Amino acid sequence: MMHRPQLYTTLNNGVKMPLLGIGVYDMYRQEAEQAVLWALETGYRLIDTAAMYQNEAEIGQAVQQSGIARQDIFITTKVHDNDQGYDKTLKAFDTSLKKLNCDYIDLYLVHWPLRATRKDTWQALERLYTEGVVRAIGVANYLLPFLNELETYANLVPAVNQVEFSPFLYLKDLHDYCQKNNIQLQAYTPLMRGQKLDDPRLVAIAQKHGKTSAQIVLRWALEHGVSTIPKSANWHRIRENFDVFDFNLSPEDKVVLDNLNQNFRMVEDPMDWW
Ligand SMILES: NC(=O)c1ccc[n+]([C@@H]2O[C@H](COP(=O)([O-])OP(=O)(O)OC[C@H]3O[C@@H](n4cnc5c(N)ncnc54)[C@H](OP(=O)(O)O)[C@@H]3O)[C@@H](O)[C@H]2O)c1
Repeated sequence: MMHRPQLYTTLNNGVKMPLLGIGVYDMYRQEAEQAVLWALETGYRLIDTAAMYQNEAEIGQAVQQSGIARQDIFITTKVHDNDQGYDKTLKAFDTSLKKLNCDYIDLYLVHWPLRATRKDTWQALERLYTEGVVRAIGVANYLLPFLNELETYANLVPAVNQVEFSPFLYLKDLHDYCQKNNIQLQAYTPLMRGQKLDDPRLVAIAQKHGKTSAQIVLRWALEHGVSTIPKSANWHRIRENFDVFDFNLSPEDKVVLDNLNQNFRMVEDPMDWW
Protein backbone atom coordinates (compact mmCIF):
# COMPACT_ATOMS: atom_id res chain seq x y z
CA MET A 1 0.00 0.00 0.00
CA MET A 2 1.27 3.48 -0.90
CA HIS A 3 1.27 6.03 1.88
CA ARG A 4 1.52 9.50 0.41
CA PRO A 5 0.81 12.88 1.89
CA GLN A 6 -2.53 14.23 0.73
CA LEU A 7 -3.43 17.83 0.05
CA TYR A 8 -6.69 19.01 1.57
CA THR A 9 -8.74 22.13 1.08
CA THR A 10 -11.16 23.64 3.59
CA LEU A 11 -14.52 24.42 2.04
CA ASN A 12 -16.42 27.63 2.85
CA ASN A 13 -18.33 25.89 5.65
CA GLY A 14 -15.22 24.45 7.33
CA VAL A 15 -15.50 20.94 5.87
CA LYS A 16 -12.18 19.43 4.77
CA MET A 17 -11.99 17.89 1.30
CA PRO A 18 -9.03 16.14 -0.39
CA LEU A 19 -7.87 18.14 -3.41
CA LEU A 20 -7.21 15.03 -5.51
CA GLY A 21 -9.84 12.36 -6.04
CA ILE A 22 -10.88 9.63 -8.43
CA GLY A 23 -13.66 10.23 -10.95
CA VAL A 24 -15.72 7.14 -11.70
CA TYR A 25 -17.57 8.11 -14.87
CA ASP A 26 -17.86 5.35 -17.49
CA MET A 27 -17.06 2.39 -15.27
CA TYR A 28 -19.64 -0.16 -14.28
CA ARG A 29 -20.26 -3.14 -12.02
CA GLN A 30 -17.15 -5.11 -11.03
CA GLU A 31 -14.84 -2.70 -12.84
CA ALA A 32 -16.11 0.28 -10.83
CA GLU A 33 -15.92 -1.56 -7.53
CA GLN A 34 -12.40 -2.76 -8.25
CA ALA A 35 -11.19 0.68 -9.37
CA VAL A 36 -12.44 2.29 -6.16
CA LEU A 37 -10.85 -0.44 -4.04
CA TRP A 38 -7.52 0.13 -5.81
CA ALA A 39 -7.89 3.89 -5.41
CA LEU A 40 -8.57 3.62 -1.68
CA GLU A 41 -5.60 1.27 -1.31
CA THR A 42 -3.43 3.77 -3.16
CA GLY A 43 -4.44 6.57 -0.79
CA TYR A 44 -7.27 8.38 -2.58
CA ARG A 45 -9.92 9.59 -0.15
CA LEU A 46 -12.23 11.47 -2.53
CA ILE A 47 -14.59 9.63 -4.89
CA ASP A 48 -16.59 11.54 -7.49
CA THR A 49 -19.68 9.73 -8.74
CA ALA A 50 -23.14 10.77 -9.94
CA ALA A 51 -26.58 9.19 -10.18
CA MET A 52 -26.05 9.39 -13.94
CA TYR A 53 -22.97 7.13 -13.80
CA GLN A 54 -25.08 4.19 -12.62
CA ASN A 55 -22.43 2.91 -10.26
CA GLU A 56 -23.36 4.36 -6.87
CA ALA A 57 -24.12 0.89 -5.48
CA GLU A 58 -20.70 -0.39 -6.54
CA ILE A 59 -18.99 2.65 -5.02
CA GLY A 60 -20.82 2.07 -1.74
CA GLN A 61 -19.83 -1.57 -1.83
CA ALA A 62 -16.14 -0.74 -2.37
CA VAL A 63 -16.14 1.83 0.44
CA GLN A 64 -17.57 -0.74 2.81
CA GLN A 65 -15.22 -3.49 1.66
CA SER A 66 -12.15 -1.26 2.00
CA GLY A 67 -12.45 -1.32 5.80
CA ILE A 68 -11.61 2.40 5.86
CA ALA A 69 -13.78 4.43 8.23
CA ARG A 70 -16.62 6.18 6.41
CA GLN A 71 -15.66 9.56 7.89
CA ASP A 72 -12.19 9.27 6.32
CA ILE A 73 -13.66 9.05 2.81
CA PHE A 74 -15.20 11.99 0.98
CA ILE A 75 -18.03 10.97 -1.36
CA THR A 76 -19.49 13.27 -3.99
CA THR A 77 -22.61 12.48 -5.99
CA LYS A 78 -24.86 14.56 -8.23
CA VAL A 79 -28.53 15.04 -9.07
CA HIS A 80 -29.47 13.34 -12.35
CA ASP A 81 -30.86 15.76 -14.96
CA ASN A 82 -34.10 13.74 -15.05
CA ASP A 83 -34.52 14.25 -11.31
CA GLN A 84 -34.16 18.02 -11.20
CA GLY A 85 -36.88 20.10 -9.48
CA TYR A 86 -37.55 20.52 -5.77
CA ASP A 87 -39.47 17.37 -4.80
CA LYS A 88 -37.77 15.15 -7.35
CA THR A 89 -34.33 16.19 -6.11
CA LEU A 90 -35.22 15.38 -2.50
CA LYS A 91 -36.38 11.95 -3.62
CA ALA A 92 -33.34 11.40 -5.84
CA PHE A 93 -31.07 12.20 -2.91
CA ASP A 94 -32.67 9.45 -0.84
CA THR A 95 -32.19 7.00 -3.70
CA SER A 96 -28.49 7.94 -3.98
CA LEU A 97 -28.04 7.55 -0.22
CA LYS A 98 -29.55 4.07 -0.33
CA LYS A 99 -27.48 3.00 -3.32
CA LEU A 100 -24.30 4.30 -1.75
CA ASN A 101 -25.34 2.56 1.47
CA CYS A 102 -24.53 5.70 3.47
CA ASP A 103 -26.41 7.78 6.00
CA TYR A 104 -24.94 11.02 4.67
CA ILE A 105 -23.19 12.34 1.55
CA ASP A 106 -20.16 14.59 1.77
CA LEU A 107 -20.91 16.69 -1.29
CA TYR A 108 -24.08 16.84 -3.39
CA LEU A 109 -23.94 18.71 -6.70
CA VAL A 110 -26.40 20.01 -9.27
CA HIS A 111 -24.99 18.04 -12.21
CA TRP A 112 -25.98 20.42 -14.97
CA PRO A 113 -27.54 23.94 -14.97
CA LEU A 114 -30.83 23.05 -16.67
CA ARG A 115 -32.65 26.28 -17.46
CA ALA A 116 -36.13 25.37 -16.25
CA THR A 117 -35.22 23.58 -13.03
CA ARG A 118 -31.81 24.70 -11.77
CA LYS A 119 -33.28 27.16 -9.25
CA ASP A 120 -35.69 24.68 -7.63
CA THR A 121 -32.98 22.05 -7.62
CA TRP A 122 -30.60 24.36 -5.78
CA GLN A 123 -33.29 25.16 -3.22
CA ALA A 124 -33.74 21.44 -2.58
CA LEU A 125 -29.99 21.11 -2.01
CA GLU A 126 -30.13 23.95 0.52
CA ARG A 127 -32.88 22.08 2.35
CA LEU A 128 -30.84 18.85 2.39
CA TYR A 129 -27.90 20.79 3.78
CA THR A 130 -30.05 22.35 6.49
CA GLU A 131 -31.34 18.88 7.39
CA GLY A 132 -27.75 17.75 7.89
CA VAL A 133 -27.82 14.79 5.49
CA VAL A 134 -25.16 16.32 3.29
CA ARG A 135 -21.99 17.98 4.58
CA ALA A 136 -21.63 20.39 1.67
CA ILE A 137 -23.57 21.37 -1.45
CA GLY A 138 -22.36 22.70 -4.75
CA VAL A 139 -22.85 22.96 -8.46
CA ALA A 140 -21.30 21.62 -11.64
CA ASN A 141 -20.91 23.26 -15.02
CA TYR A 142 -21.74 26.70 -13.61
CA LEU A 143 -19.80 29.13 -15.76
CA LEU A 144 -19.91 32.78 -14.66
CA PRO A 145 -23.41 33.70 -15.90
CA PHE A 146 -24.87 30.75 -14.02
CA LEU A 147 -23.04 31.71 -10.82
CA ASN A 148 -24.18 35.31 -11.14
CA GLU A 149 -27.75 34.16 -11.55
CA LEU A 150 -27.44 31.76 -8.60
CA GLU A 151 -26.35 34.66 -6.40
CA THR A 152 -29.72 36.33 -6.95
CA TYR A 153 -31.69 33.54 -5.26
CA ALA A 154 -29.30 31.39 -3.22
CA ASN A 155 -29.20 31.59 0.56
CA LEU A 156 -25.96 29.62 0.65
CA VAL A 157 -22.82 30.02 -1.41
CA PRO A 158 -21.96 26.73 -3.19
CA ALA A 159 -18.99 25.05 -1.53
CA VAL A 160 -17.72 23.64 -4.84
CA ASN A 161 -18.09 24.36 -8.53
CA GLN A 162 -17.05 21.40 -10.68
CA VAL A 163 -16.31 22.31 -14.29
CA GLU A 164 -14.27 21.04 -17.20
CA PHE A 165 -10.85 22.57 -16.60
CA SER A 166 -7.32 21.86 -17.84
CA PRO A 167 -4.34 23.80 -19.19
CA PHE A 168 -6.08 23.55 -22.57
CA LEU A 169 -9.27 24.99 -21.05
CA TYR A 170 -7.89 27.43 -18.52
CA LEU A 171 -10.94 29.32 -17.24
CA LYS A 172 -9.01 32.01 -15.45
CA ASP A 173 -11.90 34.45 -14.91
CA LEU A 174 -14.04 31.70 -13.43
CA HIS A 175 -11.18 30.58 -11.21
CA ASP A 176 -10.61 34.16 -10.00
CA TYR A 177 -14.32 34.61 -9.29
CA CYS A 178 -14.50 31.35 -7.35
CA GLN A 179 -11.43 32.24 -5.29
CA LYS A 180 -12.86 35.64 -4.49
CA ASN A 181 -16.20 34.17 -3.47
CA ASN A 182 -14.83 31.24 -1.52
CA ILE A 183 -16.08 28.58 -3.90
CA GLN A 184 -13.69 25.65 -4.36
CA LEU A 185 -13.13 25.05 -8.07
CA GLN A 186 -12.91 21.38 -9.08
CA ALA A 187 -11.55 20.24 -12.45
CA TYR A 188 -13.35 17.50 -14.34
CA THR A 189 -11.93 15.81 -17.44
CA PRO A 190 -8.57 17.08 -16.13
CA LEU A 191 -6.64 14.67 -18.39
CA MET A 192 -8.56 15.84 -21.47
CA ARG A 193 -9.48 12.12 -21.75
CA GLY A 194 -5.95 11.65 -23.04
CA GLN A 195 -6.44 13.90 -26.07
CA LYS A 196 -3.61 16.39 -25.44
CA LEU A 197 -1.16 14.36 -23.41
CA ASP A 198 1.29 14.17 -26.33
CA ASP A 199 1.51 17.95 -26.75
CA PRO A 200 5.29 18.53 -27.10
CA ARG A 201 5.32 21.44 -24.61
CA LEU A 202 3.70 19.22 -22.02
CA VAL A 203 5.96 16.28 -22.83
CA ALA A 204 9.06 18.46 -22.41
CA ILE A 205 8.01 19.51 -18.89
CA ALA A 206 7.14 15.92 -18.03
CA GLN A 207 10.54 14.64 -19.17
CA LYS A 208 12.34 17.30 -17.16
CA HIS A 209 10.63 16.14 -13.96
CA GLY A 210 10.77 12.42 -14.76
CA LYS A 211 6.96 12.43 -14.69
CA THR A 212 4.19 11.74 -17.21
CA SER A 213 2.12 14.38 -18.98
CA ALA A 214 -0.89 13.25 -16.96
CA GLN A 215 0.98 13.89 -13.72
CA ILE A 216 2.02 17.35 -14.94
CA VAL A 217 -1.53 18.48 -15.73
CA LEU A 218 -2.80 17.15 -12.40
CA ARG A 219 0.02 18.91 -10.53
CA TRP A 220 -0.78 22.11 -12.45
CA ALA A 221 -4.37 22.05 -11.15
CA LEU A 222 -3.27 21.31 -7.58
CA GLU A 223 -0.71 24.13 -7.61
CA HIS A 224 -3.50 26.48 -8.69
CA GLY A 225 -5.49 25.31 -5.66
CA VAL A 226 -7.95 23.55 -7.94
CA SER A 227 -9.32 20.17 -6.89
CA THR A 228 -8.99 17.52 -9.58
CA ILE A 229 -10.71 14.18 -10.19
CA PRO A 230 -8.99 12.13 -12.92
CA LYS A 231 -10.78 8.96 -13.94
CA SER A 232 -9.01 5.66 -14.36
CA ALA A 233 -10.13 2.08 -14.04
CA ASN A 234 -6.60 0.82 -14.62
CA TRP A 235 -4.40 -0.20 -11.65
CA HIS A 236 -1.23 1.41 -13.04
CA ARG A 237 -2.87 4.67 -14.04
CA ILE A 238 -4.81 4.95 -10.76
CA ARG A 239 -1.43 4.87 -9.02
CA GLU A 240 0.24 7.13 -11.58
CA ASN A 241 -2.44 9.80 -11.14
CA PHE A 242 -1.94 9.81 -7.37
CA ASP A 243 1.83 10.01 -7.58
CA VAL A 244 1.94 13.80 -7.83
CA PHE A 245 2.93 14.87 -4.34
CA ASP A 246 6.71 14.53 -4.62
CA PHE A 247 7.62 17.36 -6.98
CA ASN A 248 6.86 21.01 -7.74
CA LEU A 249 6.42 22.83 -11.03
CA SER A 250 8.87 25.67 -11.57
CA PRO A 251 7.62 29.22 -12.25
CA GLU A 252 8.78 28.76 -15.87
CA ASP A 253 6.79 25.50 -16.19
CA LYS A 254 3.72 27.30 -14.91
CA VAL A 255 4.07 30.08 -17.49
CA VAL A 256 4.18 27.49 -20.26
CA LEU A 257 1.21 25.53 -18.86
CA ASP A 258 -0.85 28.67 -18.20
CA ASN A 259 -0.47 29.54 -21.87
CA LEU A 260 -1.67 26.26 -23.38
CA ASN A 261 -5.28 27.43 -23.32
CA GLN A 262 -7.21 26.86 -26.53
CA ASN A 263 -10.74 26.53 -25.09
CA PHE A 264 -10.49 22.83 -25.74
CA ARG A 265 -13.53 20.89 -24.49
CA MET A 266 -14.33 17.20 -24.43
CA VAL A 267 -17.76 17.80 -22.88
CA GLU A 268 -20.56 20.04 -24.14
CA ASP A 269 -20.25 23.79 -23.43
CA PRO A 270 -22.61 24.61 -20.51
CA MET A 271 -23.33 27.98 -22.17
CA ASP A 272 -25.46 26.04 -24.65
CA TRP A 273 -27.87 25.83 -21.72
CA TRP A 274 -27.93 29.53 -20.89
N1 LIG B 1 -19.82 17.23 -13.65
C1 LIG B 1 -19.76 16.83 -14.89
O1 LIG B 1 -20.57 17.21 -15.72
C2 LIG B 1 -18.64 15.90 -15.29
C3 LIG B 1 -18.39 15.67 -16.66
C4 LIG B 1 -17.35 14.82 -17.01
C5 LIG B 1 -16.59 14.22 -16.01
N2 LIG B 1 -16.87 14.44 -14.69
C6 LIG B 1 -16.07 13.79 -13.61
O2 LIG B 1 -14.69 13.96 -13.87
C7 LIG B 1 -14.05 12.69 -13.91
C8 LIG B 1 -12.87 12.72 -14.85
O3 LIG B 1 -13.23 13.13 -16.14
P1 LIG B 1 -13.31 12.15 -17.40
O4 LIG B 1 -13.57 10.77 -16.96
O5 LIG B 1 -14.29 12.78 -18.31
O6 LIG B 1 -11.89 12.31 -18.12
P2 LIG B 1 -10.32 12.28 -17.68
O7 LIG B 1 -10.18 11.99 -16.24
O8 LIG B 1 -9.73 13.52 -18.25
O9 LIG B 1 -9.78 11.10 -18.58
C9 LIG B 1 -10.13 9.77 -18.38
C10 LIG B 1 -9.57 8.95 -19.53
O10 LIG B 1 -8.14 9.03 -19.53
C11 LIG B 1 -7.57 7.73 -19.31
N3 LIG B 1 -6.47 7.90 -18.35
C12 LIG B 1 -6.54 7.92 -17.00
N4 LIG B 1 -5.33 8.14 -16.46
C13 LIG B 1 -4.46 8.27 -17.48
C14 LIG B 1 -3.06 8.49 -17.54
N5 LIG B 1 -2.34 8.64 -16.45
N6 LIG B 1 -2.49 8.55 -18.78
C15 LIG B 1 -3.22 8.40 -19.90
N7 LIG B 1 -4.55 8.18 -19.90
C16 LIG B 1 -5.18 8.12 -18.69
C17 LIG B 1 -8.68 6.87 -18.79
O11 LIG B 1 -8.52 5.53 -19.21
P3 LIG B 1 -8.33 4.30 -18.14
O12 LIG B 1 -9.55 4.25 -17.28
O13 LIG B 1 -8.19 3.13 -19.04
O14 LIG B 1 -7.08 4.62 -17.37
C18 LIG B 1 -9.91 7.48 -19.44
O15 LIG B 1 -10.09 7.00 -20.76
C19 LIG B 1 -15.18 11.75 -14.35
O16 LIG B 1 -14.87 10.41 -14.07
C20 LIG B 1 -16.33 12.30 -13.54
O17 LIG B 1 -16.22 11.84 -12.19
C21 LIG B 1 -17.87 15.29 -14.34
